[in-house]
Amino acid sequence: MQYRRLGKSGLKLSLLSFGSWVSFHKQIDDKKATELMGLAYDHGVNFFDNAEIYALGESERMMGRVIKKMKWERSSYCVSSKVYFGWRGEQNKPNQTGLSRKHIIEGCHEAMQRLQVDYLDLYFCHRPDKETPIEETVLAMNTLIQQGKILYWGTSEWSAAEIMEAQRVASEYRIIGPTMEQPQYNLFEREKMENEYLTVFRDARIGTTIWSPLGSGLLSGKYLEKVPKGSRLGMKGFEWLNERWLNPTNLARVKNYRSLPQKWT
Ligand SMILES: NC(=O)c1ccc[n+]([C@@H]2O[C@H](COP(=O)([O-])OP(=O)(O)OC[C@H]3O[C@@H](n4cnc5c(N)ncnc54)[C@H](OP(=O)(O)O)[C@@H]3O)[C@@H](O)[C@H]2O)c1
Repeated sequence: MQYRRLGKSGLKLSLLSFGSWVSFHKQIDDKKATELMGLAYDHGVNFFDNAEIYALGESERMMGRVIKKMKWERSSYCVSSKVYFGWRGEQNKPNQTGLSRKHIIEGCHEAMQRLQVDYLDLYFCHRPDKETPIEETVLAMNTLIQQGKILYWGTSEWSAAEIMEAQRVASEYRIIGPTMEQPQYNLFEREKMENEYLTVFRDARIGTTIWSPLGSGLLSGKYLEKVPKGSRLGMKGFEWLNERWLNPTNLARVKNYRSLPQKWT
């Protein structure tokens, strides 16, 4: 396994990480999750990614049970959560979502409980919150760092301008700004990573932990003929994902990518 520093920080993460979105609780049980996380860990994966909204908190609970069972040294792996969407779905009350100080701090406490850890290594703002001043979010994240409840904080799907604003606020207060951004990055979605974020990488030296590298599996070619049984684009509750990905244009692009010599893709 190769390891790379996360942006300008000293944290070293494995090139491949392990995410639990869709699969934990919805596709696999504790036994399979233990087997898969064990395999990943034994092959050098040191970053396990999660979020409060995944399976409405059940994904973190499952990962927490696996981590506890494995008895890995806490210093040997990193675990993340993401705050913004809440975990109560349609039952979310007004302060149970977003990036206010209240939800950031409470969301962190709840994620630590579900994951059964004393601190989160990485904590992401899962989306920008247009209703909360960025200053409030940056200060709340810094508070959690000072309290030792999170070690690094970052963003996911923020614009370059929003990330730079968070950096500016952190510099103004001389506190800790975002270390990483988690954007979608695959052959369909290249704009942010390859264009918009260039100044963010150069000037703020933000690191990335990207998501959906295979476009939810579409890029594996598995959907070219039909939707295979048990795959996520055929799952109940994921019709929106199917609608987003499965259309003639995308399928034609997958066919095209797959016909190119490997060195070009
Ligand atoms: N920050 C965010 O907003 C955000 C959003 C999404 C994800 N994430 C994170 O990023 C992680 C990865 O995202 P992702 O799950 O969308 O990644 P992905 O690599 O695009 O999709 C993974 C899925 O593709 C299918 N697949 C992969 N390889 C395959 C193969 N060789 N043959 C057949 N099917 C294959 C499997 O799904 P099936 O078996 O179900 O078909 C697999 O679970 C998530 O777990 C989560 O931690 C973050």
